[in-house]
Parts: sequence; structure tokens; C-alpha cells
Amino acid sequence: MRSLSLPDATKHTSPNPVSLICSLTPDGRTNLATVSWWTCLSLEPETIGFAMMKPSHTGELVRGTRQAVLTIPGVPLARAVMQCGSTTGRTQDKATTVDIALMELPDCAIRIPAHSVVAIQCRLREHIDVGDHYFHICDVERVLADADEAPLFAWMGYARIAPARQA
Ligand SMILES: Cc1cc2nc3c(=O)[nH]c(=O)nc-3n(C[C@H](O)[C@H](O)[C@H](O)COP(=O)(O)O)c2cc1C
Repeated sequence: MRSLSLPDATKHTSPNPVSLICSLTPDGRTNLATVSWWTCLSLEPETIGFAMMKPSHTGELVRGTRQAVLTIPGVPLARAVMQCGSTTGRTQDKATTVDIALMELPDCAIRIPAHSVVAIQCRLREHIDVGDHYFHICDVERVLADADEAPLFAWMGYARIAPARQA
């Protein structure tokens, strides 16, 4: 084995997970950000966690509202995943500029992209300073899935977005 950096190691672990974190803006819009660093943390209580760079708009919104929906994007969202991961909602409405159709969830102010495979509606329990990121630990409130959609993954580290079978 040879020594390498953590980012370089993710090229060897591809396909890596990818999600879109949906958060609520003060004027009721939904912001979308691409996040690969998420994980399940506990079954009882059901808990997930995700890491967001400290300056991200998403992290600030989630820490402010304490709400988020983590979605696993389906194949038609491949281009949107890259664009939501390279632009900030601080200066633009990504759903509009990237042209992402959003759908409502029952009893939830945050909307999610159409063609999501899984949606995990959650509430922020706490966040931890882990360096250049905050790790957000969230209680799961509801999990929804659409079995007709196929999930996307990140390949070559995080350089390419594609489904598992066709990459
Ligand atoms: C494939 C991919 C995976 C990403 N994973 C993460 C991640 O796990 N955590 C993070 O903070 N940023 C991640 N990013 C970068 C954010 O999506 C990016 O900084 C985005 O502009 C944040 O948007 P916001 O400012 O609207 O929250 C990723 C980007 C891509 C393309």
C-alpha cells in the first residue's frame, strides 16, 4: 500500500454516496446543495449526519431553521447535482437558475427535487466543529422513497455523477 491524501483515497472508494441537502430560506424558498459526506448514525433514535463547509449557505440555513431534507438524487438529476455542488444559494435561487422542478412533501415547508429516490426529512439536533466543516447531527422525522427512480453516485472521487451500473 502507498501513502496518499484523504481526497485521493476517495478516488479508490468510488462510487461514493451523493445527496442533495434541501434547506429553507428566510423567504420560504428551497436551497439545494450537493453533499457526499453524509451517513446514517443511529437506528434508535433514527439519526443521520452530514458535513458542510463552514461558509456554505446550506449549513447556515440548517443551523438557523433546524430543518433539512436530505435527498438521494435519481438519474435525471445528474446535471443538477454537479451544478448545485458548484454554485451557492447565497447569491442565486438554484432551483430557478439550474431549472430543477421541485415537489411538495406532506407537512413540510421544504420542497425537494422531482426524481428524488429517497427523502429523509430531519431536524438538527446539534452541530460539531470538526475543522473546516461543521458536522450536522439530525433526528430523522420521516423517510420516503420512490422505487421507480435509480440512484446517482459520485465517481472518480467526486468528479463525475452517474448511476452505479453505467459508470
Ligand atoms: C459531488 C459533490 C459532492 C460534494 N460534497 C460536499 C460535502 O459533503 N460537503 C460540503 O460541504 N460540500 C460538498 N460539496 C460542495 C458543495 O455542494 C458546494 O460548496 C455548494 O456550493 C454549497 O452550496 P450552498 O452554499 O448553497 O450551500 C460537494 C460538491 C460536489 C460536486
